[in-house]
Amino acid sequence: MRVLVVGSGGREHALCWAIAASTLCDALYCAPGNPGIAADATCVPIAATDIDGILAFAQKEKIDFVVVGPEAPLVAGLVDKLEAAGIAAFGPSALAAALEGSKGFTKDLCAKYDIPTAAYRRFTDAGEAKKYVRAQGAPIVVKADGLAAGKGVTVAETVAQAEAAIDDALTDNRFGDAGAEVVVEEFLVGEEASFFALTDGKAALALASAQDHKRVGDGDVGPNTGGMGAYSPAPCVTPAIEAVVMETIIRPTLAAMAKEGRPYKGVLYAGLMLTKDGPKLIEYNARFGDPECQVLMLRLKSDVLPALLASRDGVLDGFDLRWHDETALCVVMAAEGYPDDPKKGSAINGLADAAASDPDVRIFHAGTKILDGQLVADGGRVLNVAAMAPTVAEARSRAYAVIDRIDWPQGFCRRDIGWRALKG
Ligand code: AMP
Ligand code: GLY
Repeated sequence: MRVLVVGSGGREHALCWAIAASTLCDALYCAPGNPGIAADATCVPIAATDIDGILAFAQKEKIDFVVVGPEAPLVAGLVDKLEAAGIAAFGPSALAAALEGSKGFTKDLCAKYDIPTAAYRRFTDAGEAKKYVRAQGAPIVVKADGLAAGKGVTVAETVAQAEAAIDDALTDNRFGDAGAEVVVEEFLVGEEASFFALTDGKAALALASAQDHKRVGDGDVGPNTGGMGAYSPAPCVTPAIEAVVMETIIRPTLAAMAKEGRPYKGVLYAGLMLTKDGPKLIEYNARFGDPECQVLMLRLKSDVLPALLASRDGVLDGFDLRWHDETALCVVMAAEGYPDDPKKGSAINGLADAAASDPDVRIFHAGTKILDGQLVADGGRVLNVAAMAPTVAEARSRAYAVIDRIDWPQGFCRRDIGWRALKG
């Protein structure tokens, strides 16, 4: 089968690596891909958000199956467009991707169908929003409704910070249309975990558990990022918690979406807070997490492609996936200045030697390009070094041993990935 993966990050590199190994895959393309992905797939220079360009390419190259990595093309209706043209695609329709595309939509759905999440109100008027914040007090959370490239959420420790976040979105238009409405919600206390379920519109299959590290600095300090590292399994997601999450959050959401005429297919990524009152939904994403996908692909023993196809074909019921028992851990290497102002263009050397030093460690590319024959940084998150080993401690030391061989003085990483899992 001829497969096209859409996207260019570490998540898509991991997907390409796994799909390339599938017995069903005869040819693999990636739009637009990156220099690392080029080892596993033929990269084509079409942006992930160029819906018409992707459709035209898929038609011309007789692509059998398109796997969409990032949220923007999903929310913009890439899957709808491909399916309407007779090309099978993995991922939710635009109507279903509203679970990520509109936080207000998701909160209303949770309220209507009794799915546990933080208490909230929606606002388009800054004065009203501030009045609510003052009445509730801090800490409190302010979120732009739409896609804001991971920058739309403010966890405000004071009422003044919450008011400033409201002004950013509603008065100063910092997020454009994505911030024309805000959700103000209760601050939840607990441990965070990423929960992934593969769905086909009706059935849901829980994937392996994972946790990422959102803050940029060691010890979970500094600004939020897309994720600085991840590991799987996440010890805090016990089988009992997984069962509760499936029963109270994932399955009710699928039933609700079907009832609303928006059946959800693809991977449903629930950001969870494990509170003392049980797991609560922080947010939904309509895609795999990045870098959580990297550790999931490492641990996946089964062929990934039949699972993605079963999701698309609506035949997931009874489907099973096998996972390695070992721990996979992924460290993100980012460019100086990330997340606020990453510096692009610095040279990266020594990757081949670093990779050869431990054949069981994978180096996924996230934001790289070749400039005049030289590999350079081309984004905030640039490389992902992922290891799998019998223990968290060993996976971590093997990942860092490879990182220490990479010659990239302008790059940095957290040195404490996996600390929660190591804590015991
Ligand atoms: P998001 O960009 O929606 O993933 O949110 C970024 C981060 O903000 C989450 O990973 C949480 O750490 C935090 N967060 C979001 N909503 C809440 C909430 N209601 N209570 C506590 N923390 C939250
Ligand atoms: N790692 C968080 C995300 O993919 O949104």
